[in-house]
Amino acid sequence: MLTDKFGRTVDYVRLSVTDRCDFRCVYCMSEKMTFLPRNEVLSLEELFLVAQAFTRLGVKKIRLTGGEPLVRRDVLSLVRNIGALPGLEELLITTNGSHLEQMADDLKAAGVTRINISLDSLKPDRFRQLTRTGDLDQVMKGIEKAVATGFRALRINSVILRGRNDDEITDLLDYAVSLGINIAYIEEMPLGEISDHDRQDTSVSNEDVRTIIEKSRELTPVVMKTAGPSRYYRLHGCDTKVGFISPVSHNFCESCNRVRVTVEGRLLLCLGNEHSVDLRSILREHPGDQALLMQTMEKAMDLKPERHYFYDKDAPQIVRFMNMTGG
Ligand code: GTP
Ligand code: 5AD
Ligand code: SF4
Repeated sequence: MLTDKFGRTVDYVRLSVTDRCDFRCVYCMSEKMTFLPRNEVLSLEELFLVAQAFTRLGVKKIRLTGGEPLVRRDVLSLVRNIGALPGLEELLITTNGSHLEQMADDLKAAGVTRINISLDSLKPDRFRQLTRTGDLDQVMKGIEKAVATGFRALRINSVILRGRNDDEITDLLDYAVSLGINIAYIEEMPLGEISDHDRQDTSVSNEDVRTIIEKSRELTPVVMKTAGPSRYYRLHGCDTKVGFISPVSHNFCESCNRVRVTVEGRLLLCLGNEHSVDLRSILREHPGDQALLMQTMEKAMDLKPERHYFYDKDAPQIVRFMNMTGG
């Protein structure tokens, strides 16, 4: 079992399989982005070895992230191999939905148990502005295909920005309800220096989001735990669960159960800090030495910081973009 200095057990790994993405969401990326050269990126085989070592150390949930995970060539072979790892209880994906229409069936067959899909607007022009390149129709077809494929507990992820999409909070909820799926509202986090807006101007707390919803609907807190930090409510009269991910207004670090691996093979102990350990050099300088890889992971847990310091004026700002970390 992986345990850190603060007694937290780590059983959830977010594995970024590419830093690339076909979208350029304004809160995630800058207008101009450079991506990693191929030799710096872990191969599919190396990604699998990382996942395998983690499951041998007691990790039960692996979430594939990006960039956009489904743009990585041959990602399905990786999904299949990870899906077959003994001990793994959940194989999850967070995606922008652009490739879901074609891939949902294969993902299900490969062992993916749950999918979260980003969706910040239901207006095609606005969707295009927020993602800079995205096609709303394509994403909605992807979401609807995932529903038809029979994934359970599908979830929409909506990052709410003041003046950009805060007038769509209940429309996004209605869309989730119409499909019988869940939704999570996410506070924008200050990762990477973006070019589109000043984050202080667009911030909306989840308290405000909830107040807006409760003007016309009834929300009741429920004890429902997914792998991540969302706190859930039941929406009166339907199956949809409404989640709130509030890293800025409510710190949930004391119950953190997760670490991340970037596609460069950097094991990041916290989303909001730079503490990390290089797994790529272990994989490349000691090929086949799984014991060493596992020891390195175990030792890395001592570096896991107690909490993040988003918007703490005195703390160093995180310059890495969200597409490097996968959220
Ligand atoms: P579930 O298994 O459905 O609970 O997924 P999840 O919420 O862990 O994953 P998802 O990829 O859908 O992430 C949703 C949002 O939660 C993203 O904006 C992530 O950046 C954020 N998030 C996930 N884990 C953490 C964390 O440890 N710290 C912070 N600050 N944000 C996190
Ligand atoms: N703050 C909060 N959420 C973000 N995401 C991407 N960038 C940010 C940010 N700066 C979300 C995406 C996706 C998930 C992986 O992270 O919308 O749903
Ligand atoms: Fe791509 Fe996701 Fe970043 Fe949007 S938030 S640019 S979909 S990685």
